[in-house]
Amino acid sequence: MLMARLESTTEYERIIEFAAAQGLEYDPEETQDFSDIVGAWKLTQPGDIIIGTIMLGYEEGHYVLHAVAVEPLFRKFGLGKILVKKAMEKVRELGGDEVVLIGRAPEFYSKLGFTEIKPEDSPLEFECLSCPQYQVSCHPQIMRHEIPAEGPVL
Ligand SMILES: CC(C)(COP(=O)(O)OP(=O)(O)OC[C@H]1O[C@@H](n2cnc3c(N)ncnc32)[C@H](O)[C@@H]1OP(=O)(O)O)[C@@H](O)C(=O)NCCC(=O)NCCS
Repeated sequence: MLMARLESTTEYERIIEFAAAQGLEYDPEETQDFSDIVGAWKLTQPGDIIIGTIMLGYEEGHYVLHAVAVEPLFRKFGLGKILVKKAMEKVRELGGDEVVLIGRAPEFYSKLGFTEIKPEDSPLEFECLSCPQYQVSCHPQIMRHEIPAEGPVL
């Protein structure tokens, strides 16, 4: 049976380090700015071993998901969904009604009910256009999901 503990954390550097190890682009040389972060969670195994992460930012009036990652051995067990759900519940608690993200795994987010926003309609700065991986090895989509005022968020 899969045992994992989900808890809120302020260990932002650890989260970024974990997410980068799962292939998400975070430049280790670059100083990260965490001033927009309004929530972060880690999924751990005994011994505080991180197996999943998510961060929630509030940027220019939009709630944005970052560092959504699960350790490969633990994928496809529903942990990614649990993390996204947790962050969406926090958005509702903070009074928000929508969450957005730049998704490197659009199929995963589609399964959760996220829909695509065209780059020209994006509420976020879409920095991917200048990235050499864009549409070569990485096919990101800007996506959104509404958050109902009550009932399950997902
Ligand atoms: C994307 C990621 C977080 C998904 O985590 P996960 O724990 O495997 O996701 P879940 O098990 O909760 O999956 C939920 C659903 O999405 C599906 N799914 C998960 N990853 C998928 C993928 N890459 N492509 C298509 N479907 C996927 C699952 O099969 C499941 O479907 P089901 O409900 O019909 O069974 C994980 O694959 C990961 O860390 N990838 C590398 C980092 C990354 O790209 N993160 C996204 C950044 S935007």
